[in-house]
Amino acid sequence: MTENLVQRIIELKKKRNAVILAHNYQLPEIQDIADHTGDSLELARKATQIDCEVIVFCGVSFMGETAHILSPEKTVLLPDPAAGCPLADMVDIHELRSMKQEHPGATTICYVNSSAEVKAESDICCTSANAIKVVQSLNGANPIIFVPCKFLGGYVSRMTGKDLVLARGYCPTHRRILRETIVKLKEEMPDAVVMTHPECASDVLEVSDYVCSTSQMFRAVEESGARRFIVGTELGMLHPLKKRYPDREFFPTSDKAVCPNMKRTTLEKVLWSLEKMQYKVELDPEIRARALKSLERMLEHV
Ligand code: 13P
Repeated sequence: MTENLVQRIIELKKKRNAVILAHNYQLPEIQDIADHTGDSLELARKATQIDCEVIVFCGVSFMGETAHILSPEKTVLLPDPAAGCPLADMVDIHELRSMKQEHPGATTICYVNSSAEVKAESDICCTSANAIKVVQSLNGANPIIFVPCKFLGGYVSRMTGKDLVLARGYCPTHRRILRETIVKLKEEMPDAVVMTHPECASDVLEVSDYVCSTSQMFRAVEESGARRFIVGTELGMLHPLKKRYPDREFFPTSDKAVCPNMKRTTLEKVLWSLEKMQYKVELDPEIRARALKSLERMLEHV
């Protein structure tokens, strides 16, 4: 059955001149059929570099929107348009505007986990992979507003020594990862290296050896040379880590760290997406043009 599905996806991909991009949190079978997998920054860059007419974006909606904003000449399809991001929804355009009113003259950075409207209203966008570089690039900017993730913003502020005006957003999935679980695992496996995503709570980041984006975790495995790893991010990340490093061991920090939105994309939905050319990402052209500016600035810092 699955083989049949995969075969039909491959045939339709060819017919439509389509490429499948999948985030590192996608279901294993989706990652396995993707042409490219990666973190948010890598996938945004890929969307601009690949030669195709159609991108099937297996991720959440802000990722599909980002690909569409950066590559409007391609048709970007989301297999499930209901795959949203609660963190992105935590700061809307009204909240951002009132933060800007409270801090006149502020430079605004938005995390890529944000709506197209929020990107359009921001000066520059960042992902977890380049947030530190983006803040460092804003020489002399003061104040700096950072939305929507308070934990990523707090981490970047500590790492750069720059005060940031933070919103109150957080990722509910990463919030399920607890410091005490990591401390306990570390007591059981003192040789294990702790890698966490900067969307985790600040007390979790304090007990981490590496704080990095999902794809930067591959580099952390190589750099550390360790054999065992405690992985503090969404559980989907375990699949590519185990696949790439079958001789190492990876331990999750919580079996509850599952993003329900990332798991909405199934092989069936990918097939239907290619069959029916659904669901096309479409944005107001004026918002798209303004959001493009902040995304282009983001891509200057890779
Ligand atoms: P990465 O860019 O590190 O892959 O993170 C994406 C994300 O949405 C984390 O919740």
